[in-house]
Amino acid sequence: MATLHFAHKDAPLPPPAERLQIVGVAGAGPDDPLPPNRLLWGDNAALMAVLLPSLEGQVDLVYADPPFFTNRRYRRRVGRGEDSRQPATWALAPGYEDRWPSLDAYLAFLYPRLRLMHRLLAPHGTLYLHLDWHAAAYARVLLDEIFGPRRLLNEIVWVYHGPSPIRRAFNRKHDTILVYTKGEHYTFDADAVRVPYNPNTVATFRASPKAGFGKVPDLQRGKVPEDWWYFPVVARLHRERTGFPTQKPEALLERILRASSRPGDLVADFFCGSGTTAVVAARLGRRFLAADATWQAIQTSYLRLLRAGAPFRLETTTPLPVQPFPQGCAPHVHDPRVALPSCAQEVAEGWEVGQPQGDVFYSLAGAVRAPRSPQPPAASLPLPRQRPVHVRVFTTRGEIWTSAAGVPHNPPCPPDESDSPPPAGSR
Ligand SMILES: C[S@@+](CC[C@H](N)C(=O)[O-])C[C@H]1O[C@@H](n2cnc3c(N)ncnc32)[C@H](O)[C@@H]1O
Repeated sequence: MATLHFAHKDAPLPPPAERLQIVGVAGAGPDDPLPPNRLLWGDNAALMAVLLPSLEGQVDLVYADPPFFTNRRYRRRVGRGEDSRQPATWALAPGYEDRWPSLDAYLAFLYPRLRLMHRLLAPHGTLYLHLDWHAAAYARVLLDEIFGPRRLLNEIVWVYHGPSPIRRAFNRKHDTILVYTKGEHYTFDADAVRVPYNPNTVATFRASPKAGFGKVPDLQRGKVPEDWWYFPVVARLHRERTGFPTQKPEALLERILRASSRPGDLVADFFCGSGTTAVVAARLGRRFLAADATWQAIQTSYLRLLRAGAPFRLETTTPLPVQPFPQGCAPHVHDPRVALPSCAQEVAEGWEVGQPQGDVFYSLAGAVRAPRSPQPPAASLPLPRQRPVHVRVFTTRGEIWTSAAGVPHNPPCPPDESDSPPPAGSR
């Protein structure tokens, strides 16, 4: 079998993170069982190494969308950042780095992570590795080595449209997704991903039963998709756009999850970016593990999940970027609600009311700005009955403003009024 040689290929697997701590829980209270869904902030090699003792061979599906070896520095849009036609409403801020001293350095980054994912996968599990022309050919050789060449299930080509500055070559408008199964027997639910036949095909078969050389497709049931997929990229005015660079469309992840996992399965994305896989997993009733090394990605994912109403816990290898509310911007209680002053509301991507217990913040209610909306999140949230009440604001700059001493409240809220329906965008 052909193998690839590069510097530091034989380096030992990275050591586990020294400390992985639960710092937040959303969608469950202190007396409830911990939600199985996990959002993890830290380097994914150290995180996967920590997870191995408890999760080796347990993950049903891994979707991996790592940096592509583009040698670019990706920036994200902050502010009301999704609408390209209104540049006055957004600014650019650091996103994530995809810059490497050499191809060897990139492969030395990717290889141990692929090996860790392979170990975490269940015997019937599947890996989808999403790359493009920069590194897909090298990754295929690495995956052949790790999984075995016979475990290549598909090479999926995701095609899309978009502007391009290229004038001396064809526009590069496809990504490559390499699909490997860990074993010979694997989950693949063809019926969950069927699509309608092309109307021309339907018309042809209706007109002549001899079309297709005697094979008559089940026109009602639809067909299993080909290995090339068209989904629009998340750009410009796409309704899912968070402002995070290289965000993938939910439709793409939905097809992957529907095909290669079942309800209740554990789906992992160790390069989660804006949290697309986690959001889709929650919607489809799968459990998820989502990790990223940058706080920007974790904040975007956190707020997206909060908005989706998925129960999950936040775990981190480093302390959260918390700071006190600036003078005059602290929240206050207007019984039966907690209100943010406009100076905090204007910079808020989202905010939540909750209760700390030890190092864990239990989020009891939250409001998140709707994608592509010029409106900030709701200005007030219901005052929970639990005490003390704390507030956290996630700012567009990636800070967390927190009321460390709790929000003063008086008098206690009447039970029935505190249950009044939340405004749009809040839960
Ligand atoms: C291509 S983006 C993923 C986009 C994501 N699929 C989405 O839909 O938003 C790659 C992500 O990998 C993250 N990343 C890069 N190196 C990492 C590492 N060592 N550990 C964890 N995450 C990492 C980056 O911060 C970035 O968010």
